[in-house]
Order: sequence, then C-alpha cells, then structure tokens
Amino acid sequence: MGRPFDVRKAIVSRFDEELRFFRGWIDKPKAVGSIVPTSSITARRMASVARPERNDLVLELGPGTGVITRAILDRGIKPENLVSVEYSLDFVEKLREDFPGVNIVHGDAFDLDTVLAPWKGRVFDSVISAIPLLNFPVPKRIELVERLLDLLPSGRPVVQITYGALSPVPVGRGTYSVERFDFVIRNIPPAHLWIYTRRVGA
Ligand SMILES: C[S@@+](CC[C@H](N)C(=O)[O-])C[C@H]1O[C@@H](n2cnc3c(N)ncnc32)[C@H](O)[C@@H]1O
Repeated sequence: MGRPFDVRKAIVSRFDEELRFFRGWIDKPKAVGSIVPTSSITARRMASVARPERNDLVLELGPGTGVITRAILDRGIKPENLVSVEYSLDFVEKLREDFPGVNIVHGDAFDLDTVLAPWKGRVFDSVISAIPLLNFPVPKRIELVERLLDLLPSGRPVVQITYGALSPVPVGRGTYSVERFDFVIRNIPPAHLWIYTRRVGA
C-alpha cells in the first residue's frame, strides 16, 4: 500500500507555494504577471499537447512555482527531456529542489541562443509557455514565437496562457497560425490558452 495522503502537509505546501508566488508578484509584478499560480486544470490542459511517446524535448517557459512543470511530468515526459526556463532566481532554487532531474535553466526566454545552448541542434516536440507576454512589446512577442517555431517540427505547437481575450501574438503577421485552444474558467483570473503553429507553406 502507498503512503497515506497527508492533508495538512498538502495544505501547508500549497499555501507556501502561493505565498512564494505572491511575494514574487510584489517584487516584480510585471515579470510574474498573474497574482496566483496557474490552476492544475489549466496546467493539465496546457501539458496535454506534449507527446511523451516521441521521447523529444519539451520546452517550458516561465515555470514559476512549477504547477505546469508537474503537469508536464505527469503527462509522461521524462524529467531529462524537459527544459524549463525561469527568470527569477527564487523560483529557480525552489524548482531545482522540487524537480530533480528536470533541466531548470535560470535565464531569459527571449535569449534563446544562450539558454538553449546545451541543446543546440536537438529537436523539441512542443513549447508550453506561461511568461507574461502582454508585458512585452508586440514585435518582441512575434519574434519570440517565430524563434520558438524554428525549434519545432512542422505542425507542432507553442501553447501560451494569457488573461486577455485576444491573442497576445497578433493574427495575420509573420509565418505562424493562431488558434484559440481553450478558455479555462477555473483559473484565477480565468485563462485563455492559445496555440501557435507554423503556417502551412510558410
Ligand atoms: C504567470 S507566472 C507563471 C506561473 C506558473 N505557471 C505558476 O503557476 O507558478 C510567469 C512566470 O514567468 C517568469 N518570467 C517572466 N519573464 C520571463 C522571461 N523573460 N524568461 C523566463 N521566465 C520569465 C516569471 O518569473 C514567472 O515565474
């Protein structure tokens, strides 16, 4: 039989996670974006695009407290196949403790050449991003999506969470297609999920 589930420990750990997140938000509201961690429902939905059977790498941007990281691993992605890029050192230290074996990279998602240097030439299956894109200028968002799609085989997705009703990366520009993937009401605030893929023939 497995170990009994310790409700008290689970509540304390969840509280600790939210407190850490809230502190991060007070320090750097623009970098953290939302005030509350992503819900596990949203995290599972985002992780659902990853294909564990392929054994390719999955790139996660802005893991924060690791709710989405956990969902990606629960999906069956091996820890060594997950590369998670986080800007805040506080979160990085906690993520390294919580997810031994996952490649937690301390760096800037907009500086892909540097953060992904150890995996140069490797194939990524998908990108799962929670970085607060709306806080960056539109040309930077477009450039990031284009660079991310360059890492993926044709047709594979970049999934992005956002809290606005419009895609943070505008439709009709660049070489990507935009698809509304989901709207998750059970998230604070309710979350819009977007998928970007390379446009056929582009
Ligand atoms: C909305 S929070 C993500 C929440 C996360 N899903 C959770 O539930 O804890 C955004 C995260 O992106 C990180 N971030 C912001 N800008 C970044 C960047 N340029 N590169 C990497 N991470 C970044 C923030 O530090 C923060 O952890």
